[in-house]
Amino acid sequence: MPSTDFKVPEKYRYQNGFNCYHETEAIQGALPIGANSPQKPPLGLYAEKLSGTAFTAPRHENQQTWLYRILPASAHAPFATKESATYNTNPESKPFEKIYQIPNQLRWDPFDLDETVDWVHSLHLVAGAGSPVMKSGIGIYIFAAGKDMSEREAFYSADGDFLIVPQHGVLDIQTELGNLLVRPNEICVIPRGIRHRVTLPEGPIRGYILELYQNHFTLPELGPIGSNCLANARDFQAPVASFVEDTANSYTLLSKFAGHLFEAKQNHSPFDVVAWHGNYYPYKYDLGRFNTVGSVSYDHPDPSIYTVLTAQSDHVGTAIADFVIFPPRWLVAEDTFRPPWYHRNTMSEFMGLIHGQYDAKTGGGFQPAGASLHNVMSAHGPDATTHEKASNADLKPQKVGEGSMAFMFESCLMVGVTEWGLSRCKKVQEDYNAESWEPLKPHFKRPEGKESKSGANGVQRMIQDKATVPQWTSETTDA
Ligand SMILES: [Fe+2]
Repeated sequence: MPSTDFKVPEKYRYQNGFNCYHETEAIQGALPIGANSPQKPPLGLYAEKLSGTAFTAPRHENQQTWLYRILPASAHAPFATKESATYNTNPESKPFEKIYQIPNQLRWDPFDLDETVDWVHSLHLVAGAGSPVMKSGIGIYIFAAGKDMSEREAFYSADGDFLIVPQHGVLDIQTELGNLLVRPNEICVIPRGIRHRVTLPEGPIRGYILELYQNHFTLPELGPIGSNCLANARDFQAPVASFVEDTANSYTLLSKFAGHLFEAKQNHSPFDVVAWHGNYYPYKYDLGRFNTVGSVSYDHPDPSIYTVLTAQSDHVGTAIADFVIFPPRWLVAEDTFRPPWYHRNTMSEFMGLIHGQYDAKTGGGFQPAGASLHNVMSAHGPDATTHEKASNADLKPQKVGEGSMAFMFESCLMVGVTEWGLSRCKKVQEDYNAESWEPLKPHFKRPEGKESKSGANGVQRMIQDKATVPQWTSETTDA
């Protein structure tokens, strides 16, 4: 079966489908029929609308959900700022959290586990671009936590949608809309504003987050591929309604708002939604279900064929963020250098590894829980060892990436790195270039008896006879 054999079994029920209009009730009859906001909603519940797009967004982009809950989300005391030393999500307020744009290729050793903090305080901004204030750009986080959030806490980010990629441990996520169990090789998306609480049933957790300050994730267009393949819509799972009835205890609500952390008190559970209907909801996806396509003749197609989810900019086909994976797959292309080609892209590429070994890097420097960043126009490609191996490999059909799952957050934006990412995490590999590309050797062999027409002699000849310019170019290519 094309699905992951998880060590930790599933414990929740879900509704299937991507960007579907779902409805779910934990108690039969909790959803009003027809009307969204009747004078008296069923069971004495409050009706509350949660919008994920502007009211007037085009119908195909419009996202909203109606919640039927014991008390409205607004029933809390005013927010107060949290001491900034207690969290790491803010790119601006602390001088040491400025963002640095640099052209270097960067690679990080595995980020450490940290058993002393919970989910909220585990979020380390490592890189990003733009600003949540302008609803423009992305943030990239490393998380590592060892503690459950308190039983009476809930967190939300007003800044954007969280795409969470666990690398270690299991996230049990209680949300207003129901529960999600998220294990390594699964991803989940928690849209902007949705209150949630993360607990750790299998001990410490670690992983990566892409926060999308603008737009929402969609499935990529399939073009000539047709109506199936890549991530299929039916494999995305949304929670069913599940609620806590508690209006007797004090709860803490934590809000990430423009990167700063705020907290407010309330005297009822934030997880009191008895029923909901809409298309703005958290969801998860098993990367093992990805239906990979690739070349069956020659050459290596662009890695866009591995896109799971995309968030488009205002320019069609150009993503603010693509979530791309490199799953186990067969390589069969003939007379082809099978790893990725050497390249420089206008897009920036942040990569991580969930488990196994990424097939384009065999030198051992790119490890699970580590990362790399190849920024706008920063040159990269296979390391010297991989190039040597792939250039001489016997090109029979080969399964690569077995037991491995690498991924990429790709963005049209120039991604900057925080002070934490550059130095305080102490994971940057100083020898990345020295280990990867500086050892590359020239294999160029001039054919015997042919003289170079390029360089000084070629220019000389071109100047002498202007009519030979086009010929000069083609002759150089032939040489
Ligand atoms: Fe790349």
